[in-house]
Amino acid sequence: MDKGYIISTVSLDLFSQWLKSRNYSHIFILVDENTRTYCLPFLLKEMDFLGNSHVIQIASGENEKSLATCELVWSELLRRNADRNSSIINLGGGALSDLGGFAASVFKRGIRFINVPTTLIGMIDAAFGGKTAINFKTLKNQIGLFAKPEMVVVCTKFLATLAQQDVMSGFAEMLKYGLTSDRELWEKLIHLDAAELKNLDSHLIESCLNLKNSVVQQDFHEKNYRKILNFGHTMGHALESLSFGRNRLSHGEAVVHGMLFESILSNQSGLLSDNELSEIKSVVDRYYMKLKIQPDDFEKLYEIMSFDKKNQNSVVNFTLLKSIGAAKIDNYIAKNEILKSLDRFNKL
Ligand SMILES: NC(=O)c1ccc[n+]([C@@H]2O[C@H](COP(=O)([O-])OP(=O)(O)OC[C@H]3O[C@@H](n4cnc5c(N)ncnc54)[C@H](O)[C@@H]3O)[C@@H](O)[C@H]2O)c1
Ligand SMILES: [Zn+2]
Repeated sequence: MDKGYIISTVSLDLFSQWLKSRNYSHIFILVDENTRTYCLPFLLKEMDFLGNSHVIQIASGENEKSLATCELVWSELLRRNADRNSSIINLGGGALSDLGGFAASVFKRGIRFINVPTTLIGMIDAAFGGKTAINFKTLKNQIGLFAKPEMVVVCTKFLATLAQQDVMSGFAEMLKYGLTSDRELWEKLIHLDAAELKNLDSHLIESCLNLKNSVVQQDFHEKNYRKILNFGHTMGHALESLSFGRNRLSHGEAVVHGMLFESILSNQSGLLSDNELSEIKSVVDRYYMKLKIQPDDFEKLYEIMSFDKKNQNSVVNFTLLKSIGAAKIDNYIAKNEILKSLDRFNKL
């Protein structure tokens, strides 16, 4: 527990003990319509003393990472007299915990929050690491702050009701850990079949969240080393932003294609071998639908990436791969190289 997180496959006993030892004035539980249906009953059954806490419901999805939804949460907190000694339990996936963590961290200059991730992305990535944010003017994660949850509770039982698309979205982030930091993990992941994906071994989940935590411990504010976890995300966030209001890509789908694009860029920059690029391409093709990027969108993607907070001047800062299992941060790539790689992405 002193690690700041609790992992369990079946019960919430440890969380229950821990929470009872806190002296919060009010406990709020933030849910969306899916986690209210699929996850809240289990939480309340395991922790009946939470029966009197206030449930705040928002709608599900990426659209809710907005100022308007923050206002809704803040209004509910005010209406229920939340004070500095209150806490919010974020019961949901990454969109919900990004929003809930942000709303909590600025309310009355910051109240505490606990993440109980209910999606794969949440369990291996979003619930940890203290990055909270909302989207602004169609760009991802533009307003936010680093704020640590007081506790993260990973109970893999919640995954049973997750839609296949959300499992695949989380699997993309698992592949990212293999590609950037652990060749052995990559080997294990790429041999999983559909049934094993649906019922993921909790050891694999634990390996991923341990990797995330070890990176975050070394560089909480993402000054250098933590940037390895941005692999696939510079293009991934641009693809995700571009898909707002169109055929919406999930975060993981956008990231997986972002990783393929950034692998091409790594190869073009003389870092990643042809063989390893082909290996990555065949894995992406095996698990995910091919994405064709319309040439009309090349300039738009570049424009979005130039707004990206990791960018400096007219070049764009990418995390690239030296090989499978080893990443290199701070590669400043010029526009013509990016456009060339986009062309290769469509032809590969
Ligand atoms: N802060 C970080 O470090 C970090 C890291 C990775 C991703 N993210 C963010 O996370 C978001 C994507 O994560 P996500 O896909 O978990 O978001 P999400 O909260 O939108 O969840 C995805 C869907 O699953 C539903 N759901 C949640 N738990 C369920 C369950 N147990 N059973 C059935 N349905 C369930 C939700 O209602 C939603 O429809 C993106 O906004 C991304 O930017 C943040
Ligand atoms: Zn991500």
